[in-house]
Amino acid sequence: MRGDGDSIPVPSCWQNHGYDSHQYINVRFPIPFDPPYVPDENPCGLYETEFLRESQTQSRSYLYFEGVDSCFYVWVNGTFAGYSQVSHSPSEFEVTELLADGTNRLDVLVLKWCDGTYLEDQDKFRMSGIFRDVWLIERPCDFVRDYAVTTGITFGEDQVTPQSAEVCLSLSRSTGGSRRELFVRAILRDASGSVEAEGQTTLVSNGSEAKLVFPVKHPRLWSAETPYLYTLEIRTENEILHQNVGIREIHIESSVVKLNGRPIKIRGVNRHDSNAKTGYTISREQLEEDLKLMKSHNINAIRTSHYPNAPWFPEYCDRYGFYVIAEADIEMHGVTSFYGGSSKKTFCTLAMDPMFDKAVIDRVERCVKRDKNAPCILIWSLGNESGYGNSFEKAGRWVKAYDPTRLTHYEGAVYEAEGHVNDTSMIDLYSRMYPHVEWIDEYFADPGNKKPYFMCEFVHAMGNGPGGIRAYMDRMYRYEGFLGGCVWEWCDHAIYDGVAENGKERYLYGGDHGERFHDGNFCVDGLLYPDRTPHTGLREWKNAICPVFVTEIDAANGMFLVENRFDFLEASGEAELCYEIKAGGSAQDETVILADGTKELPHLLPHEKAALTIPVPKLPENMDVYVKLTFIRKKAVEYAACSSTFGFAQFCMQERKVSVLQRENRAEHEVVLVEEPEEWIVLCGTLRVAFGKKTGAPTGIFKDGKSILWGHAGYQIYRAPTDNDIQIKEKWKEAGYDAAMTKVYHSDAFCLDGEAHYVADIGIAAIYRQPAVHLHADWCVNRWGRVIVTLDAHKDMAMPPLPRLGIMLPVERSMRHVTYYGYGPDESYIDKREHCYVDMFQAEVEDLHENYIRPQENGSHYHCRYVSLENEKYRLLAEADNYLDFNVSDYTVEELAGKRHNFELEPASGSLLSLDARMMGIGSNSCGPDLPEEFLRDEAHTVWKVQLQIEEL
Ligand code: GAL
Ligand code: MG
Repeated sequence: MRGDGDSIPVPSCWQNHGYDSHQYINVRFPIPFDPPYVPDENPCGLYETEFLRESQTQSRSYLYFEGVDSCFYVWVNGTFAGYSQVSHSPSEFEVTELLADGTNRLDVLVLKWCDGTYLEDQDKFRMSGIFRDVWLIERPCDFVRDYAVTTGITFGEDQVTPQSAEVCLSLSRSTGGSRRELFVRAILRDASGSVEAEGQTTLVSNGSEAKLVFPVKHPRLWSAETPYLYTLEIRTENEILHQNVGIREIHIESSVVKLNGRPIKIRGVNRHDSNAKTGYTISREQLEEDLKLMKSHNINAIRTSHYPNAPWFPEYCDRYGFYVIAEADIEMHGVTSFYGGSSKKTFCTLAMDPMFDKAVIDRVERCVKRDKNAPCILIWSLGNESGYGNSFEKAGRWVKAYDPTRLTHYEGAVYEAEGHVNDTSMIDLYSRMYPHVEWIDEYFADPGNKKPYFMCEFVHAMGNGPGGIRAYMDRMYRYEGFLGGCVWEWCDHAIYDGVAENGKERYLYGGDHGERFHDGNFCVDGLLYPDRTPHTGLREWKNAICPVFVTEIDAANGMFLVENRFDFLEASGEAELCYEIKAGGSAQDETVILADGTKELPHLLPHEKAALTIPVPKLPENMDVYVKLTFIRKKAVEYAACSSTFGFAQFCMQERKVSVLQRENRAEHEVVLVEEPEEWIVLCGTLRVAFGKKTGAPTGIFKDGKSILWGHAGYQIYRAPTDNDIQIKEKWKEAGYDAAMTKVYHSDAFCLDGEAHYVADIGIAAIYRQPAVHLHADWCVNRWGRVIVTLDAHKDMAMPPLPRLGIMLPVERSMRHVTYYGYGPDESYIDKREHCYVDMFQAEVEDLHENYIRPQENGSHYHCRYVSLENEKYRLLAEADNYLDFNVSDYTVEELAGKRHNFELEPASGSLLSLDARMMGIGSNSCGPDLPEEFLRDEAHTVWKVQLQIEEL
């Protein structure tokens, strides 16, 4: 805490400048639930400043606060000017009479809590202060107080080709001014600046209204894909106002949302105005960086969760092209945390409380009025997670009456208070967050469901995730009435706390600020790291929403079906196809490009499909062959270069059939088996492998006398829980998977046909629990110096699904160069590989680590044929008879599971190579549904074979 007379920047949040401290809390109110009261000990900030104002005549002055959390009192030159609240909506005070020429003094007292706190219970760090800009606005004595722009389009017979349009401007004049007439001239210009239409009118008296209509002959329509903007200049004697105009029309027809006559899909994100360094205070540059990133990742929509974003936010969305779901500053989620109450019963408490009626309506009105002229806004959202009741019904009716040109949304309308029958007739969309995909099928199977369906939040992107996007996308395109959804959420929330002693950046979350009540890392749940570096999840989302979508008809013969998923653009004008057919799949054979080339896409109107064929060469025998189809941009845009990719798809043309493990391509050696008191030693040429009689696995592997391992190999069933393992990890714990022990019931070694076998019968069990797995392991060293491990595993199906099942080799630290063939280059899991493809990839161990703020399982690779680790001298190669999943990391599972922050991680003495018969999927259960069964990979019986080999380079 600092004292009087300190200065902090405005705008900013005072918690970022040494005052008060941070708190991250989600659902629970940060104060006692005792509305409308707040604690007497209410932290506050008194802002004092002076400003110069030149002498003005004939003008009126307004102080305009874009955003203050939570409420504030204003004094100008010592005279009280007013009070306001609603943190994310602007407040304006007329101060004409209070200002003097020359120096003026402004005092603003901001309180941390007010009755509005009950309505601003959004899931975020709770910050305070004047966090958006403050303006002194000088206006003429009489001026245009407000205006509204709407557009109308006349379509041709096809219902999509615009014949003509009109832009309507309604104006209203200020009150309390002179008696003179106010002459208004308005000019509509096209994007090049040419005048499209002009009009004029006179606002005769104070408060009077007028209307102007501008015909547009050959209108160019606005959409996220074609964000064509006209501008309207509204001129009065002493003032010119500029307004973006996008000609567009949205409506619902037979349960389908149509923009400009065409069905659209929302492929969006939820975004907060937030930043790890600046908190709620966001600059235009920060916003533009976000928007460019979104555009280059195919994102076309933003829900302003859960409050109006900065007032200039919509202008950027108009220009870049985003559909905006603009949400009012309302969330009363804390009502679900009553002592003794269940959430269903209590959720509607405040929504039904007449005490909050006016506040709810006011907040919705202020959201709509501020942004009503933004073409990008297609949908008004009444707020978030506040239950439903009278107040929302009134607010919804008001919106529909005030602005019939847009749609309405409110997810909370699914809740109903006891004794109340909801009227949801004024809510256009049916919205439900984080549904199971089966629930979606049920929704569309019921003909009684007439409203278009929208997922205001889905695929919770917390930590390693989201997995399972594909199932949602399939349905989004299967059901016409499925408008789409917004991923929760755009960016991780965290507090930047400088650089740690080890040079790593410190990002903090809930509980790191001495908070008694907090929700840990639940705020670290975005598609981007706090510094805006994309997670692998963002790339997943990008490829899942690639505007050119392709499925196979007959991949082996090069036949595919392409679908134009643009809603307005013709596909071949935007994208070109690059294809590559590649063979590989065995560590002994080079990967080879069999064919590649580019191809024009067929001419495809929005949502059309057509067959596409690529030439297929003769495929080599016994190799995996994959074809990758990449769609690249034909035109450079502000946020993406020409030839950058929209996305890609990959298909398997051929899978190798015959095992590659037994190939004899090297010198043979005699295999010698030696028994020692604790170990069996197998010697083969310069290879020496020691097997522990009591460990069931190698205790050492040596080549030319050099140790390849830095510890004992072993069996592994556990992974560092991901955020999405939030529920299943409790089952793992109950079953003791986090502390399971390996019991060797019996081990033996023998020679047979010139090979040495070490065999072991093993159980893996935790204290007081029955074994989860029984394994029979056979480690065979053959005369070519290969170690072939066969695991025959039986899992007790009464026990929870295993996070993974496989072997772990602690590999000597110098062996850092990794080569693998499988899904890469991003981390990949059975249900999280939209952005991955099968190929041969190379990386260093550290590059395979995904640096999640809260450490967790990361960096695995699904469906691999082989993986090798090498230094200058040796290469350790693991090749599956069929497939393996692998993970190589500097950190042990215990380290990843035990540390709260990534900057605390300490590397092990070498790397840890996990070779898994299977690794469980990822899902999005941190807030979404359970992992579907197919991704649990829970199997009663597994037989899995992998060959290890050490080669001298
Ligand atoms: C939703 C909520 C979001 C966020 C999310 C969890 O229920 O609307 O604000 O809390 O869950 O990250
Ligand atoms: Mg909430």
